[in-house]
Amino acid sequence: MRLHVVDHPLVAHKLSTLRDERTDSPTFRRLTDELVTLLAYEATRDVRTDTVEITTPVAVTRGTRLSYPRPLVVPILRAGLGMLDGMTRLLPTAEVGFLGMVRNEETLEASTYATRMPDDLSGRQIYVLDPMLATGGTLVAAIRMLLERGATDVTAVVLLAAPEGVAVMERELAGRPVTVVTAAVDERLNEHGYIVPGLGDAGDRLYGTA
Ligand code: URA
Repeated sequence: MRLHVVDHPLVAHKLSTLRDERTDSPTFRRLTDELVTLLAYEATRDVRTDTVEITTPVAVTRGTRLSYPRPLVVPILRAGLGMLDGMTRLLPTAEVGFLGMVRNEETLEASTYATRMPDDLSGRQIYVLDPMLATGGTLVAAIRMLLERGATDVTAVVLLAAPEGVAVMERELAGRPVTVVTAAVDERLNEHGYIVPGLGDAGDRLYGTA
């Protein structure tokens, strides 16, 4: 597994505003969208492309197009949904699958409650969206499922990561074709499984507490 922390002043600025407890939900949603687009730029550095012939108004030249099969973007419900538009803005040809996963707040273990994506992911490049890499349980379970279906490379785009979650990913997905792209790796997890200093509950901050 590879870890890529995106070091850019615009990323740091947007992330700082997301962290601020005074940032309201509409602003949080807009900034998440903008931040994901910046992370997506880095996350898609190795997206597969083909060389094609293009006719400009002036001449025939060679150009670049995203390859088929199309990349698959998989937001993990519910908080990952807040990252979908930011990602597909840069990958408009991507197919979108959905994965509903919930974390048991006592055991912190992840279980799947909904899956909507192709059974066969052979040869597909996948971008998984989940704002918080906390214990790593959800992402490891999600990525294992995608690899079992044949995915050949998986990039997890997360806003924030905890060192504990990164270590779990590195251990559980060692040697697998997996990359994590994040805006920052924070200090630690607290006893409730929240990232410190973090930004709180990403789902609640995006959508309210309903
Ligand atoms: N999920 C969140 O939304 N926030 C955290 O800090 C950890 C997990």
